[in-house]
Parts: sequence; structure tokens; C-alpha cells
Amino acid sequence: MNTKFIELSKKSAALKAVEYLKNGMIVGLGTGSTAEYAVREIARMIGNNALNIIGVPTSRRTEKLARELEIPILKIESVKRIDIDIDGADYVDGKFNLIKGGGGAHTMEKIVAKMSDLFIVIVDYTKLVDSLDSCIVPIEVNREKVKFVSRELKKINGIPRLRKNFITDSGNFILDTKFNNINPKELEHRINDIDGVVENGIFSERKPDIVIVGRGNNVEVLNRST
Ligand code: 5RP
Repeated sequence: MNTKFIELSKKSAALKAVEYLKNGMIVGLGTGSTAEYAVREIARMIGNNALNIIGVPTSRRTEKLARELEIPILKIESVKRIDIDIDGADYVDGKFNLIKGGGGAHTMEKIVAKMSDLFIVIVDYTKLVDSLDSCIVPIEVNREKVKFVSRELKKINGIPRLRKNFITDSGNFILDTKFNNINPKELEHRINDIDGVVENGIFSERKPDIVIVGRGNNVEVLNRST
């Protein structure tokens, strides 16, 4: 795969998403390499007095970046709602179901997406899949409950793997778990029902309103309602 072409694809999707922002908005700032292009573009526009927004970061990593780039930010606890959330994803299926959490930030990312009037997902074309079957689902798990949760995941045909040398922003572990068959809605709830699970990376309830797919310099805008 051509890395430069994929990076260009991510950037194209991110720049398109930023076009949706308007002055005065509260904006969810996603996590990951694709979302970072959007954060940098937002900072550039603020620096040029072309945009005036307040960001709500979805992770410590994004918070640090936003601070460095001098984007005004508010913590999630300080806002009641968010106008637009722009975030990446690991997989997007044809029905707008997502898997997120490659960066281990999906718990906060899901909260921010749910609080947002408009949820825009930005991806390069390699993230599109026909079905989520066999895709790895990141699951944030309370540290003391990892063994128990692993056993429970195996009972529902999951193959969990502890993410090495990784602790989430809330001090938890991630079990990257493979399922051969994924019914997104059923599995999202089933995993979260296990005692010790904080949140999993399936987004079947809060689907994106818009998915912007980058392919080199080109973008395709997919609207969920159409
Ligand atoms: C972080 C995420 C990211 O949005 C996802 O992993 C995609 O990342 P990237 O844009 O670097 O491919 O869910 O928790």
C-alpha cells in the first residue's frame, strides 16, 4: 500500500470535514492520525482568524495537540452539547456501523459522538468494509477484571488479546478481540453487559451522520439519511 497516497487521502477527508464548521461552534476533536489532520487545519484557520470555535478533545493526546496548537478547548464536563464532532474510524461498513478504538480512546470518543448534533467520520478509502465480521473490536476493561472479562468474551466466541504496553486515559486495559461474526447492535450491547467492561469500540447506536472518504485528492461524502 502506498503510504503517501493514504496520508493524502486522510488529509483530503479531514479538510473537507472542516468545511462544515462555523464560527461559535463547539467542536468534538477526534483522536488518531486522520483526526489530527482536522485538528491541525482547525488550528491553522483559527490562527488566520478564519474560524472561531471551541474544541472538546476526545483524548489526552488530542488535548495536548490542541493546547500546543493554541485551539481554545473545554473539557467534556463543561459542555452540555456539541455542535459537530469530527473523528476517524478503524472500519466503516455499508450501514454506517463503525469500529473505533485503534488509538484506545473509543470510550470518550463515543461519549463525545453521542453528545454531538452532527457526527462526521473521516477515513481513507482502506477503512471501508462490506461487513465488520472478523474485524478486531477494542474493548476497554477495568484492570482488575481482565481475566474475568477474557473468559466471558471467549464464551461468546471472542478471541481476546491484551494490548501490550498500553493503558487508557482512564487507567484501564484494552482487550483487542476478534469475533468471526459480528452483528453490530447485538454485540455492542452484549460486550458492554459483561461486568468489568468500560466500553467497546463498536458504534452501532451512535452512527455517523456523514462519512467522508478520502482517496488521494478526491473525497466522497456519504450521508446516512440519503
Ligand atoms: C482512536 C480511534 C481512531 O479514530 C481510529 O483508530 C482511526 O485512527 P487513524 O485515523 O489513525 O487510522 O478510534 O481511538
